[in-house]
Amino acid sequence: PDHSTIAADGSLVIGGCRVDDLASEFGTPFFVYDEVHLRDRAREAVAAFGPGVAYASKAFLCTAMAALVHEEGMCIDVATGGEMRVALAAGVPADRLVMHGNNKSNLELEMALAEGVGRIVVDSFDEMDRIEALVAGGLPVPSVLLRITPGIEAHTHEFVKTGQDDSKFGFGLASGAARTALDRAHRSTAMHLVGIHVHIGSQVFVVDSFRKAVQTLAPLVNDLGLPEFSIGGGLGVAYVEGEESATITQWGAVMNQACRDAGITAQVSAEPGRSIAAAAAVTVYTVGTIKDLPGIRTYVSVDGGMSDNPRPVLYGSGYETFLPRAVAADRPREIRLVGKHCESGDVLVREGYVPDDLAVGDLLATPVTGAYGHSMGSNYNKVLRPPVVFVRDGDARLVVRRETYDDLLRLDV
Ligand code: LLP
Repeated sequence: PDHSTIAADGSLVIGGCRVDDLASEFGTPFFVYDEVHLRDRAREAVAAFGPGVAYASKAFLCTAMAALVHEEGMCIDVATGGEMRVALAAGVPADRLVMHGNNKSNLELEMALAEGVGRIVVDSFDEMDRIEALVAGGLPVPSVLLRITPGIEAHTHEFVKTGQDDSKFGFGLASGAARTALDRAHRSTAMHLVGIHVHIGSQVFVVDSFRKAVQTLAPLVNDLGLPEFSIGGGLGVAYVEGEESATITQWGAVMNQACRDAGITAQVSAEPGRSIAAAAAVTVYTVGTIKDLPGIRTYVSVDGGMSDNPRPVLYGSGYETFLPRAVAADRPREIRLVGKHCESGDVLVREGYVPDDLAVGDLLATPVTGAYGHSMGSNYNKVLRPPVVFVRDGDARLVVRRETYDDLLRLDV
């Protein structure tokens, strides 16, 4: 995170709090978020795209996070009734919410209309049928954007690409579905069509892919003279040494320029998730076991794993690891950092480097875990979900407590 420093004894301090002190106070594993980093990124997004920019809450959501991005002037993208519920519980006004989803249920749509969410991003003809039925039943007419699939391949992992023709999301441009959907939405008295939405994928490093999406959709946006155009989220974030990503400011500048070049007069907005939250957090674990397999490798096991960070096993994502007690130390020893789950895929860092004196009981941290870690976490093996701590100016605030064994039994009937 931006606001980390190294104490006189060489150990890591985030947001004015020593990481070893946080570990003593909250136990491990835990997520620690640099609150100022989150606020800075949210402000950067508002400066780059204006007040319609939405935080994609799937990246990381709890009431404290929803309240924080709202305070900083962002809207919130919610993709399910559950995300909507949390944002509303945080006190975010419904008109600051943007509702997503390729299969919104009748109940979710009913909730969205009844609460008065600001925008619904319509994804299918079936959804239009459902909205029309709900409005016929007396619910208020929503403002909608239509999600269009532009037929563009973003350079990213197959699981998180969404812009190509073969996609479960949106109305295809090439097939003509986009035109048909726009005509229908335009004529429908059950929805107020305000714009077009496109999301080409996530962890996209090639900013030019976004520019291509803008160029491809410009004729549609311009033809109908719609006032809004959202380019979705997806800006890539650097996880390991050597990766380089654009800033939100740079992304915004390229997008605004691309829209001007394409003659788009609509207000351009976006939905960053990862680029707001990822680099704000570090996960801190305790080393429990060190197994040296001569001639093969060293396995270092910690007290978390794929239940708090499933990204390595899902996407083969790379992370780094370091010792909070000696952040800047030489790290000559190659290890594989693994979790405590009952499968070999439970890897956190395939190729990590640690100092020679790594010992059982040491804290190990993995940076850039603020997005899609906590939010995609699970209870696999009935491992308790870690707490989330926000730090700022020397204060540590517990915003999500650690799960307990009682929590695990709460749903059993
Ligand atoms: N808008 C829409 C419509 C989306 O589907 C997404 C992400 C975003 C915005 C935010 O994208 P971001 O700025 O965070 O890249 N679990 C995967 C990422 C899945 C992203 C899904 N949609 C991962 O851990 O890499």
